[in-house]
Amino acid sequence: MLTNAQLSEEGIRPLNQTRYTVVPRPGRHRRPMSAPKTQTEKTSKRKRIWLTILAVVVFVLILAVAAYFIKVLVDSKYFFCKGSFKFIPIDQACDGKSDCAGGEDEVTCVSTFTVNSTFPVRLVSPESVLQVYSPGTGWRSVCSEGWTVEHTLTACKQLGYTNKPSSSNWPVKSLPSQFGPYTAVRPGTGKTPVHQATKARNSICQTGSVVALSCSDCGEVDSRERIVGGTDAVIEDWPWQVSLQQGGQHTCGGALVAPQWVVTAAHCFAGGKKDLSRWKVVSGQTYLGSTGASSVDRIIINGEYDDSRNDYDIAMMRLYSPISVGDTRKPVCLPPKAFGLLDGAPMAVTGWGYLEENGQVSSRLQQAQIPLIDRTTCSGRSIYGSAITEQMLCAGFLKGGVDACQGDSGGPLVHQHSSKHYLIGVVSWGVGCARRGKPGVYCNVEEMMNWINTVVQKNP
Ligand code: ARG
Repeated sequence: MLTNAQLSEEGIRPLNQTRYTVVPRPGRHRRPMSAPKTQTEKTSKRKRIWLTILAVVVFVLILAVAAYFIKVLVDSKYFFCKGSFKFIPIDQACDGKSDCAGGEDEVTCVSTFTVNSTFPVRLVSPESVLQVYSPGTGWRSVCSEGWTVEHTLTACKQLGYTNKPSSSNWPVKSLPSQFGPYTAVRPGTGKTPVHQATKARNSICQTGSVVALSCSDCGEVDSRERIVGGTDAVIEDWPWQVSLQQGGQHTCGGALVAPQWVVTAAHCFAGGKKDLSRWKVVSGQTYLGSTGASSVDRIIINGEYDDSRNDYDIAMMRLYSPISVGDTRKPVCLPPKAFGLLDGAPMAVTGWGYLEENGQVSSRLQQAQIPLIDRTTCSGRSIYGSAITEQMLCAGFLKGGVDACQGDSGGPLVHQHSSKHYLIGVVSWGVGCARRGKPGVYCNVEEMMNWINTVVQKNP
């Protein structure tokens, strides 16, 4: 049968093309005018078109999901050399030997750093009294005579994160502990690094007062209503808490100590986790996800980290660009020397780690209040014995029940002192989680301050 459509098609063919047969193409030719489409035919055709589209979409989606999972799987096992178009096993990246042509697998890697000098500025005691060091005269507290706003600014910059810095004078007699010997700034030294701006004095301060510093609004939160008896947390209460992610997977916790610096655990970078480009830092979120992720441009592991004992289990990450400080993102304070926390001091630990031993990570940030356990108790024979070093501290309940767990590693253990939260510990290890007589063990941040200050100063 010849249709009208085919007729008109033929009309434009060259006339000299004599022999041709016309085979109506199935499904493509129009029906004769004499037989108009019925309603049911029309709808079934539309249905068929939609079904085809749907099938294609579903197929493409399945393909995309499969491709994504294959990529995640391959990424977790292999490093891709772009230059030589080759895959190498992930633990050969950043192992100190170049395995890609041109050594591109050894370019963006974690580094280690060991301090062998004394960082010459520190804050001491809960009042944060300023002390400076010089090789000849040792540590000395700074007298308030001659101290200016400019000195405050200079000293605070040396100590890292600064935001609305201020100083206060403390009469030496009002302080509970001994602060001598003393030193004082020389006139006109406001812009000189403070440890080079002082001259040791043999007597007590003329004014009888020493300088204490508050360099930023670190660790301050407007405490909100919390869920009674629960452990669900909101990021606004712990705005320094971050999630360290590898290929979008939560791997460890961490704490902001400056807009560009995160403190975490060294053991988070064991095995094939040494390539910087794989890491992202997610800040400002109550629920785990990958929004608000920052890239990382340096990871520095404490050179004294001992993976067999988990000693010196601390590392720092520098963000590619600093976070903007606000209600959901804010650094925690670093502790002054001789903070003097006693057995049972109230602490809080936070993170997205397992909700039970051998469990799963939590999608919502969790918080737990736990007491500090003194070193002697924690080193007891029935607890951890000689496994506890000076660089560690313990917190939790000896009867068990509340603890950090897998996935909380690197996260903060904080203590609140007059409206500010201080980073006292970094989640490091434990035998199981929340077991009786096996409390959580943390890296002792106070002991790491010389290393932390030096790392920040050397990586401006
Ligand atoms: N090492 C663990 C991690 O990688 C954290 C262990 C903390 N354990 C404990 N019982 N507090 O996440």
